[in-house]
Amino acid sequence: MIPIPIRAATSDDAAAISDLIQQAVRHGNVADYEPEIIDRICANSSPAMVSRRMAEREVFIGEVGGRIAGTVSLRGDKLYSLFVAVERHGQGIGRYLVDHLEARAIGKGVRTLRLSAALGARSFYERLGYRVLAYEPRDDGSTWLMVKDLDAAG
Ligand SMILES: CC(C)(COP(=O)(O)OP(=O)(O)OC[C@H]1O[C@@H](n2cnc3c(N)ncnc32)[C@H](O)[C@@H]1OP(=O)(O)O)[C@@H](O)C(=O)NCCC(=O)NCCS
Repeated sequence: MIPIPIRAATSDDAAAISDLIQQAVRHGNVADYEPEIIDRICANSSPAMVSRRMAEREVFIGEVGGRIAGTVSLRGDKLYSLFVAVERHGQGIGRYLVDHLEARAIGKGVRTLRLSAALGARSFYERLGYRVLAYEPRDDGSTWLMVKDLDAAG
């Protein structure tokens, strides 16, 4: 794919990030979770919650034509909140954002990156070199705990 600009998000981006996450969840995760879980994930992705998380995570956004095409976050040795705009799925943006985050994590001395994958995203992350460590049953949407050794990534 053509490289897209990626930058750190600011609180001015919170509403647009929240919209993107909620649309991506309602489109991409409905097959794997009950409607009330989907509602809970969306409530947990309100603009206020997105803003609050910016205080504790590095939040990045990728842009196409001045619009947010995807987002991903880093806190410590864990990748959080990878979401790609519905109309941009399948264009390599998810992989590109993960590549960016891995480079950022390596720069911060992270050797093994962890993430909690939505059930339907497991194969996506496996394609990118992640392996499953455990199933994580959770009231707000069960996930797969996955890891990748960054120093082994080629
Ligand atoms: C999962 C998600 C981030 C993938 O982003 P994307 O930009 O569509 O993915 P890409 O185009 O970069 O795909 C990279 C590779 O993974 C594959 N892939 C993408 N989504 C996949 C899926 N759900 N299952 C299996 N493989 C998938 C692509 O075919 C591609 O393979 P290739 O490189 O061999 O051609 C996106 O679909 C999304 O936002 N989903 C809803 C929210 C979600 O589940 N986020 C993850 C939370 S942990």
